Amino acid sequence: MFFKKKDKPKLQEEVVLWKANEGRAKLKEEPREEAVRMFNIPISPNALIGHGRIYTVQSAAKGDGSTTIAVNLAALLALSNPERVALIDLDGYGSIRSRMGLPADECLVNILDWEDIHGPRDIVRGLYNHSSGIMVVPGVIHYDHEEKVTPTLIFKMLTLLKETHDYIILDCPPAGTGNNTWAAALVSDLIFTVFKPDRASLDLLNENNGFMARLGCQDRVYAVLNQAGIPGGIRAGELESRLGLNILGIMPYSVAVAEENNRRQMMVHSRERDDFARALQMLAGRLPVRERAV
Ligand SMILES: Nc1ncnc2c1ncn2[C@@H]1O[C@H](COP(=O)(O)OP(=O)(O)OP(=O)(O)O)[C@@H](O)[C@H]1O
Ligand SMILES: [Mg+2]
Repeated sequence: MFFKKKDKPKLQEEVVLWKANEGRAKLKEEPREEAVRMFNIPISPNALIGHGRIYTVQSAAKGDGSTTIAVNLAALLALSNPERVALIDLDGYGSIRSRMGLPADECLVNILDWEDIHGPRDIVRGLYNHSSGIMVVPGVIHYDHEEKVTPTLIFKMLTLLKETHDYIILDCPPAGTGNNTWAAALVSDLIFTVFKPDRASLDLLNENNGFMARLGCQDRVYAVLNQAGIPGGIRAGELESRLGLNILGIMPYSVAVAEENNRRQMMVHSRERDDFARALQMLAGRLPVRERAV
């Protein structure tokens, strides 16, 4: 049987009884709205507007090297971004004063100045312009002022600095040790947990990771092995293969680091060819970039 072209019967559309997969596909396409605040507490870096990147540097155990990494990372970034890198001491009285030659009897600028800072125009009062190009927020002046560094103060300071600075680096004590540095972790783009290749540090690293997971920050936490190769320490290869750790950087043990710390110098300035300085440059060159909400 022949039909003229116009008479040709249309093929009947297939009857679709049940589009089981359609809803699922749609769900995938729609971006899920990220919760950025809970009970008005910022719980994600996207809760704070501003272009700056916030990096928390914390030690698994005391003395693992958070101050050394934080100061040298800030110095390295300040080489190409002078006065656009803020380094904040959240470790109470802290050692940044001593490391950078800002003892309390010579430098009165301190983190509690931020109690009276309410807008971008005032922030210069809370920052010490160091010759390295780093803008420093030194720790409290007296030990008994440590408890005044409240989460509210931390959030205010970070909100303002994120709008005005390119990098904000926080030197923090081990998490969960009776301090408020959890507030910084919640809004940090990256969290570096510095640990040493020794048993006590590894045990506390696990503890620290658990704390970060309870805060919901685990996706932003990266381990940095410091003092790799220290006599008697666990070997780096063994750590990676046996513990399945996601190690972002391996910083070698180097006597030069201790020497330069004692001279109040930064490795990336004075010993840039030392293995430690090179490892730090590698670390800075492969910092993960977090996707930002639009
Ligand atoms: N890679 C390294 N090689 C050699 N010595 C290092 C290295 N990193 C840090 N140190 C030394 O280890 C000691 C502790 O370092 P640092 O003060 O940076 O640690 P921390 O975690 O900030 O300590 P704290 O918990 O006391 O604040 C210092 O004497 C420092 O000079
Ligand atoms: Mg320290």
